[in-house]
Amino acid sequence: MNHFNYKNNRMFCEDVAVAEIAEAVNTPFYLYSNATLTRHFQAFDQAFKLPHITCFATKSCSNIAILHGFAELGGGADIVSGGELFRALKAGVDPRKIVYSGVGKTREELRYGLKENILLFNVESVQELRAIQEEAAVMGIKAPVSFRVNPDVDPRTHAYISTGMAKNKFGIPIDQALDVYQQADKMVNIEVLGVSCHIGSQLTDVSPFVESLGKVKQFINRLKQAGIKIKYLDLGGGLGICYQDETPPEPAEYAKAIAREMAGLSCTLILEPGRVIVGNAGILVTKVLYTKAGGKKFIIVDAGMNDLARPSLYDAFHAVQAVEERGRGTEVADVVGPICESGDFLSRGREVPCCEQGDLLALMSSGAYGFTMSSNYNSRPRVCEVLVNGSEFYIIRQRETRDDLIRGEKIPDFQGVVRE
Ligand code: LLP
Repeated sequence: MNHFNYKNNRMFCEDVAVAEIAEAVNTPFYLYSNATLTRHFQAFDQAFKLPHITCFATKSCSNIAILHGFAELGGGADIVSGGELFRALKAGVDPRKIVYSGVGKTREELRYGLKENILLFNVESVQELRAIQEEAAVMGIKAPVSFRVNPDVDPRTHAYISTGMAKNKFGIPIDQALDVYQQADKMVNIEVLGVSCHIGSQLTDVSPFVESLGKVKQFINRLKQAGIKIKYLDLGGGLGICYQDETPPEPAEYAKAIAREMAGLSCTLILEPGRVIVGNAGILVTKVLYTKAGGKKFIIVDAGMNDLARPSLYDAFHAVQAVEERGRGTEVADVVGPICESGDFLSRGREVPCCEQGDLLALMSSGAYGFTMSSNYNSRPRVCEVLVNGSEFYIIRQRETRDDLIRGEKIPDFQGVVRE
């Protein structure tokens, strides 16, 4: 359930008319509902009765206001870069609830995480293990480590967002991992604490999760026989949402399946949900600039692939809805942006509301991997982010200015002076 609903043919986010926000902040903009964010976080977190930490996947929606909201609800953060660690700390996330994944952590990022005393590093290779051992030795501390294992399970999702198959770059093959744990166990500045595993994103069935957990469980038992005790089991994220007509399991069903499989293990569970919490809690609002009906029908809007990359990148479906329903019916048209690429579309060949210049459209289910994947391509300032709470709205990230576009750029002296 989310809080984007129509009242008298006008789309509301909680108690605020979306068109009123557009009037105040201009378009395009991302809009999030605080009630939906809270509800989704709690529904997920409370579904797990076992000892657990819900570490929100920062990459899916990293605005510090949103991270702060989850921290207030007791959440932690799953991070994949020094930048995300910085954001999580600025948002007030407890470092003891921060887990750090990713195949390519730099030495500087490892040091930053160690200095901030985060809960766990999910190490993804032997070379990374050696790097973190060396950095921890210099600091005279023990690095808290989990290894991300790759269970070779097909998550049956888009190929670009599948991460737990042998052909994917992530983790250490589960059948080679015992040796790595034994190496780590002997390292003076490493404290082996956990096992982690993340098999992919937008999964709409629990069975791949159960299959991989089954493999991880067997592996934890082998570790136990080898004298290595595991305190944390990190199952990653990946639970899907409904964009169109998918029927993903509810968090309660997912939690139940995991609890069943966890029987006999006495680890604290770590979960890294992203999309399932924020996906349907955010929309992208855009305005129709022009329509063209020569041959094929095009609706040209002021948001493009730089603002919402998912349709271009994954052929992803985002429902297109009128912010003000005018009863003009629907038609088949491409909704496209101003970017100079034919791949710049937000929806293609689909039935969408009949539009006129100046109409507002909402790209639904854009809260996850929407703003965070946006760019400045074609020198377009990134849009603003707005959060609604009840009958109030708050700008939680200002629209970038043209000056922001060239911040840090410099014309070197040898090129002479700029004539303006
Ligand atoms: N944990 C790890 C280690 C991850 O790599 C990811 C996502 C998550 C957690 C969160 O997964 P979620 O619960 O959101 O499915 N840009 C793509 C999605 C990429 C996902 C990358 N990893 C998209 O727009 O669909």
